[in-house]
Amino acid sequence: MSAPPSYEQLSANFSWSVAERQLGYRPGAPINIGWMCSDRICQLGMSRKLALLWEDYQGNQKRFTYDDLRTLSNTVAHFLTLQEILPGERVCLFMDRVPDLYIGFLGILKMGAVAQPLFSAFGDESLFVRLADAKTSAIITQKKHLYKVRKIRSQLPDLRHVVVVDADQASLQPDEIAFQMEKTPRIEFFAVYPTTAESPSVLHYTSGTTGLPKGAQHVHYSIVSQYLTAKWVLDLRPDDIYWCNADPGWVTGTSYGIIGPWANGVTQAVLDSGFNAGHWYEFIEKYRVTVWYSAPTAIRLLMKEGAEIVRKHDVSSLRHLASVGEPLNHEAVLWSEEVFGKPFHDTFWQTETGCIVITNFPGMPVKPGSMGKPFPGIIATVLDPKTYEPVDHPGVAGLIALRPGWPSQIRGYWNNQAGFQARFKNGWYLCGDRASIDPDGYFWFMGRDDDVINTGGHLVGPFEVESALLGCPAVAESAAVAKPDPINMEVVKAYVTLKRGFQASDDLELEIMNHIRKRLSPLAMPQEIEFVDALPKTRSGKIVRRVLRCKEFHEPVGDLSTIMDD
Ligand code: WT7
Repeated sequence: MSAPPSYEQLSANFSWSVAERQLGYRPGAPINIGWMCSDRICQLGMSRKLALLWEDYQGNQKRFTYDDLRTLSNTVAHFLTLQEILPGERVCLFMDRVPDLYIGFLGILKMGAVAQPLFSAFGDESLFVRLADAKTSAIITQKKHLYKVRKIRSQLPDLRHVVVVDADQASLQPDEIAFQMEKTPRIEFFAVYPTTAESPSVLHYTSGTTGLPKGAQHVHYSIVSQYLTAKWVLDLRPDDIYWCNADPGWVTGTSYGIIGPWANGVTQAVLDSGFNAGHWYEFIEKYRVTVWYSAPTAIRLLMKEGAEIVRKHDVSSLRHLASVGEPLNHEAVLWSEEVFGKPFHDTFWQTETGCIVITNFPGMPVKPGSMGKPFPGIIATVLDPKTYEPVDHPGVAGLIALRPGWPSQIRGYWNNQAGFQARFKNGWYLCGDRASIDPDGYFWFMGRDDDVINTGGHLVGPFEVESALLGCPAVAESAAVAKPDPINMEVVKAYVTLKRGFQASDDLELEIMNHIRKRLSPLAMPQEIEFVDALPKTRSGKIVRRVLRCKEFHEPVGDLSTIMDD
């Protein structure tokens, strides 16, 4: 067998048309992710191939072939059409990682609507903000999460349908619909809506420094780069059993937990269960997982559990390991080489990029602690923060910037084009992160360039947390910043000043925590509240979170004269 092409070979004369041809897409023709990930794979002769091996925390198991994906997603698409959902309308998926979520995603896309996946751990406030902003028409959920939807439904005039996947109609209110995908007669033929390259596909909510979470608008053409990056970076091959740890509430769980693997016709295994080292290794052993896409937080938890527990399991099926979400520290790479005999390959990207953009390409030597090099076809650099020109020397830190225009770049923030335009400078898209590039062209991550907190690979905007805090009667002002954490890299810490008449105390801290718990997702909850007399501010009154952050990280604050004079 000849060696696979190298990074250099693939980068030379690269064109995305490689992926278009492999997907059978002709520019200008309809393109639909739901169809590409199911019907197309069946047409290639893989109807009977397993698409999804699913297991939950109780050990329940299900298996679905590509033909099941095809007909069940048709069934969902047909059902939504009967509800008079129109192409372009937003349909929210609000479920644990059950098969209905994965297959429902394809069904929504097949009938031309926009899938809006939201993490099922969200409380009613977090859910409300995102449904109200997107003017969502329908929500598909499970009985166990229905109480949250019921609480907010009357305030959501656009939400016409509440669909429950695991209940009988008799147990629901008259304005809710029971739809049990597997118990509904299967639809063999569904006329897939002819979405085209720029038709909206997925709406993912992501955090920024200012304002509430923003809807990142993806389009059907994104599959072109999601397909190819999954194939080349995750090294997917026809016989693989692929496992992605991410929940489809986040972009990793859709780009590489649904679209990437299924566009490649690969079998994927899904474990609907929280972290448990023993259970995870058992899962790898049982399903003979070959490619594993995980995250630094999970890897750090596994490291904590030690190497002994790995040795109790046969994890020899693993061929390729990759990680995303936060910096993959050097120790984690060395540890994985020691216990799995192969390194985790770091991959860097964002909700906004839709696909992996900087990566340790298979076959390329891994420099532990580095994010690797730009994916072929991605032009990446680091810019001087003052001039927005590429820095001229290797090793100099700057802002990570990408030349716009790769297939899965989002087309905008929902209802906030100005916010999206603000991400571009001098013809570059700015990721909001800082890095340096070494003489070999490897990128080394340094940190975020804004106040967003990265907790276990999930971004939390300080504004969300501060808004919740300001809703407490005792709170005058607040600032949410990152605090270092051995497992999650960062956690949220809140600095708070109190209104006159309130005294700082443990009881008050608890009271504030209880108040905001209802409004924030579990990840955004501060782990600590510190009461202070005043917050650091610019003369114009803007809170300078950087001062507080530096205090938490025991870093020098640097020159503040310009900020304070602002
Ligand atoms: C932010 C994007 C991409 C899917 C999950 C997160 C940070 C992401 C890495 C990495 C260092 C990383 C960045 C980025 N990030 N990958 N390999 N090394 N930092 O998507 O929620 O949009 O977050 O996560 O800060 O901008 P997201």
